[in-house]
Amino acid sequence: MRFRRLGSDLGTTFFTLLCFEVTSCERWGLRYPEKNKAFRIQSLMEIKLRPYELSDVDDFMEWACDDEVIRTSRLRHYTSREDALVYLQEVAIPHPWYRAMCLEESPIGFICIKPGSASERCRGLVSYALGSKYWGKGITTMAVKMVMSTVFQEFPDMERLEGFVNVDNKASQRVLEKAGFQKEGVLRKYVIVKGRTIDVTMYSYLKPDNIIT
Ligand SMILES: CC(C)(COP(=O)(O)OP(=O)(O)OC[C@H]1O[C@@H](n2cnc3c(N)ncnc32)[C@H](O)[C@@H]1OP(=O)(O)O)[C@@H](O)C(=O)NCCC(=O)NCCS
Repeated sequence: MRFRRLGSDLGTTFFTLLCFEVTSCERWGLRYPEKNKAFRIQSLMEIKLRPYELSDVDDFMEWACDDEVIRTSRLRHYTSREDALVYLQEVAIPHPWYRAMCLEESPIGFICIKPGSASERCRGLVSYALGSKYWGKGITTMAVKMVMSTVFQEFPDMERLEGFVNVDNKASQRVLEKAGFQKEGVLRKYVIVKGRTIDVTMYSYLKPDNIIT
């Protein structure tokens, strides 16, 4: 028996995606056996997106100090709790749209939209990262889809959501492709990441015609 519910509260930017298959809640208790893809479609999975709070600092550090996450992303390494608190207070919390990806209420990563301003208000940039022990379960793809389903109502001037990804970051490219983004091409020597100028693949998703804003 399967049950699937997708709900969203646009006012509070709170989302719930619940996938349920009555087989083994016990497996959930095992907390993600390594790289077991079958697990993700046989399990109770509840992902929520919500703003970060200062009290999330320990969960934040769990993924933000994860070498695997830092290695493939543009994020810097947080070395102390104080450092992480400053980041939450000065960057994540006041950010126009920066959300904790939460599993069972605990943040396990982030997803953010950077909306353009002035003549660039027609577009927004999506970025994300997830603690490495949760990789390969479809969690980020789910989160990106949640964002796609509400972002154009939240930012009425936005007509395009884009993501650019290091050409070597195949997992992130796959996330955007699975979510329905279109690959537009490669921007060569586009951005400097950790001292290295990299090529990026540009992806976009356009506002569907049936969105009422
Ligand atoms: C990129 C990232 C967010 C993906 O999160 P995730 O929840 O594991 O993503 P999903 O499970 O939804 O999808 C990952 C897909 O990439 C695939 N993948 C993973 N590594 C891959 C590789 N080396 N080559 C090809 N595909 C790969 C997975 O198999 C999966 O595809 P599938 O469902 O078709 O099998 C996560 O790896 C991460 O946090 N990386 C570090 C930070 C980062 O790179 N952020 C993005 C910056 S642009």
